[in-house]
Amino acid sequence: MIKKGIILAGGNGTRMSPLTKAVNKQLLPIYDKPLIFYSLSILMLSKIKEVLIIVNKVQLEQYKKIIPDGNNLGMKISYKEQEKPNGLPEAFIIGETFIKKDNVALILGDNFLLLECKNLKSGAKVVLHKANKPELYGVAQLKNNKISIIKEKPKKFISDKAITGLYFFDNNVVKLSKKLKKSKRNELEITDLLKIYKKQNKLRFKELGRGAVWLDTGSIEDFYNASSFVSTIENRQGIKIACLEEISLNNNWISKKELNQSIKFYGNCKYSNYLKTFL
Ligand code: DAU
Repeated sequence: MIKKGIILAGGNGTRMSPLTKAVNKQLLPIYDKPLIFYSLSILMLSKIKEVLIIVNKVQLEQYKKIIPDGNNLGMKISYKEQEKPNGLPEAFIIGETFIKKDNVALILGDNFLLLECKNLKSGAKVVLHKANKPELYGVAQLKNNKISIIKEKPKKFISDKAITGLYFFDNNVVKLSKKLKKSKRNELEITDLLKIYKKQNKLRFKELGRGAVWLDTGSIEDFYNASSFVSTIENRQGIKIACLEEISLNNNWISKKELNQSIKFYGNCKYSNYLKTFL
């Protein structure tokens, strides 16, 4: 059972400048809520109550304004800073005192996923999704229902199974991340970490089928498309995707009293009106 999760929400988001000059990419809107709500909701749906959000120094205060400490969600949310984008596995080094002796999930703050994820007992687990442009991602090749090759952004086609930005690791991940060496692009690579688990025969995967959704948020067009997707579903069905308070309520983590506090916190807006329907 995984009880702890890390959201890696640093980075400079330079590809989306000027939008990201003053505001971190993960705080930009996907339709009616900030992008980070979607990754946080995936952890919450997995019943992960303790979350560490790793951000870059300049933007810490902005994050705390929208997601303070988790009290309003019946969760424990804390923050740590990453000096510069040294690579995804640095999350486990920065997060060592948060992880302690537990297993941990990592989700990249810029990943838009809709899925149900299962927990892990030992080793590591990745979530795979078919991609049209696998060269943009870490990619896994499968053989006999096992991962046979892993490659970060392969120039030559090896498989269309992209590794999404949701990972599950046992507690060895801290020790192993510390041993990693930086790659040619001067970053610690998540794929190098996964290769170690694979070598030890401890790497598992879950392949997402047609019902699951994984959208890109790499470009402004991607933001627009993801927003349009959320808007279509929400307006058609009258439900919200990634409404954090609704998930907390369903998980029995908060009562109507806390919900009322959130309504006051957000003020007079459509999001609050939606929350009021649960009172
Ligand atoms: O989205 C899934 C892909 O994410 C995987 O398939 C790849 O294997 C993995 O390397 C990663 O690739 P990206 O090229 O998308 O990673 P990027 O550098 O864009 O970082 C993803 C997010 O993590 C982004 O929101 C910024 C944040 N980040 C990234 C790094 C390297 C940090 O907060 N700190 C970092 O050091």
